[in-house]
Amino acid sequence: MPKLGVNIDHVATVRQARRANEPDPVWAATLAELGGADGIVIHLREDRRHIQDRDLRLLIETAAVPINLELACVDEVLAIAVNASPREAMLVPERREEVTTEGGLDVVGGREKVARAVDQLKEAGIGVSLFLDPDPTQIETGIALGADIIELHTGAYANATLAGGNGDVELEALKTASRQIRQAGLALHAGHGLTYRNVKPVAAIDEMQMLNIGHTIVARAIMVGLEQAVRDMKRLIE
Ligand code: PXP
Repeated sequence: MPKLGVNIDHVATVRQARRANEPDPVWAATLAELGGADGIVIHLREDRRHIQDRDLRLLIETAAVPINLELACVDEVLAIAVNASPREAMLVPERREEVTTEGGLDVVGGREKVARAVDQLKEAGIGVSLFLDPDPTQIETGIALGADIIELHTGAYANATLAGGNGDVELEALKTASRQIRQAGLALHAGHGLTYRNVKPVAAIDEMQMLNIGHTIVARAIMVGLEQAVRDMKRLIE
C-alpha cells in the first residue's frame, strides 16, 4: 500500500494572502502527522509565494515524519536545501507565472543543470527525487542521472478525470512508467492533481510506494473544519 505524503503549501498560501501568522504550516504538519501522514511535502519556491524559509527551518526541527523539500535547480534554493538537510529533496520545474507545477522536469533538455543539482544534493546526503512526466525518455535520463526516487506527475491523468473522463489512457502511461522505474530499482512516487475522487486507480498501481497530495486535502480541511470554526467564533461573540 502506498504511503501518503501531505503537501501543506496551501496552508501557507492562506497565511500569505494576509501576510499574517496564521494558519501556520508547522501546526498543519503536526495535525497531518496525527492524521497518519507518512511524510510532509513543501515547495520552497523562488518567489516564496507560500512556504517561507522559516517554515522549512521549523519543520526540519519539529516534524516527526520525513520532510520532502521540493525545489527548482537554482543555486539559491539548492544552497538552502543543502544547509537544511531534509530527508529528501525533489527537483521540480518552476516558472513564476504558473499557478502550480504544470509539468514534469525536463531532464533531457536540462540534463547538465539537473545533473549538477543531483550531485550537489547527493553529496550532502539528501535523497534525490525527480518529478517527471510518464515519458520513457525522461525516465531513462532520470535513472541515468542517479536519482533515488522518481515521482510521476499525475497531472494529465487528473485533468482527464476532471474533464469527466476516466483517465484510462493516462493511467496506462503511468503504469508503464511505473514498471520502468521499479525495474531500474528506484523508488516510485506519484502526485499532482490527485483528489478524493480520482486517487484510487493511482493508489492501486503495482509497487506504488508513495502518493504526495496537497490541494485536495487542504480544500477538504477547510470544508470539514469551517462549521466548527464558526461555532467557536459565535460562542466568543455571545
Ligand atoms: N508532488 C509535486 C512534485 C508537486 O509539485 C505537487 C504540487 O505542489 C504535489 C505533489 C501535490 O499536488 P496537489 O497539490 O495537486 O495535490
